[in-house]
Amino acid sequence: MMSPLPPVIGHRGAAGLAPENTLASFALAADLGCAMVEFDVRLSADRVPVVFHDDILDRCTDGFGPVAALTLAQLKRLDAGGGQSIPTLAEVLTLCLERHLAVNIEIKPDGGRERETTDIALSAAGALWPSDRPLPLVSSFSGKALEWARQVAPHWPRGLLAERLPPAWRRLADVYGCATINLRHSWLTAARVAEIKASGLEVLAYTVNRKGRAEKLWFRGVSAVFSDRPDFLLGANIRMS
Ligand code: G3P
Ligand code: MG
Repeated sequence: MMSPLPPVIGHRGAAGLAPENTLASFALAADLGCAMVEFDVRLSADRVPVVFHDDILDRCTDGFGPVAALTLAQLKRLDAGGGQSIPTLAEVLTLCLERHLAVNIEIKPDGGRERETTDIALSAAGALWPSDRPLPLVSSFSGKALEWARQVAPHWPRGLLAERLPPAWRRLADVYGCATINLRHSWLTAARVAEIKASGLEVLAYTVNRKGRAEKLWFRGVSAVFSDRPDFLLGANIRMS
């Protein structure tokens, strides 16, 4: 059973205010009043799950090239912004536990490493996350990752992540046993939200940084929005339909 979702989920922590997917970003999201954060997980060369969005290091660090080409020790020497290092999944989950943050673990596997990334990330998360805390929501753009998530952590809720709703969404949500569908917000008309909700799935929207837009989506029945600027949304009028 999935715990009720908070209306605002800090995207990569508070990515509009701090270096994304760093411990500083997650701590800031907690300071701002977020109850839940989203982050992206991939593997280092020595198969340690790390929290990092891109497949290459260039945009977010002073390094370059594929994340998957460097060991954790090599990744740790890089600056991920403001003197922060790339955190491991374990470090992020530990902070989230300390700060009472619920989590959405987005699996971002390199092509061909879907099973390995999901197995390693969810086994590590399962060893750390206590059973009396809200269950992590596991999402991915990769169907293979969701398929494996269902094997590795069957009782953790899953979210089908897509830019827009795939034509076979009902079947895919069923195959992967999803509780939510997480879509790009610009695609979510009132009719589309209603159609998805009628199937019993919750709708989440990314990435929403304007208060008025968030209010419109909540009113349409969107359960939660991912935001780089949770500070703009947490005081908003959370009026659900
Ligand atoms: O999970 C919502 C959102 O993070 C998906 O897109 O590219 O920001 O990971 P992306
Ligand atoms: Mg993400």
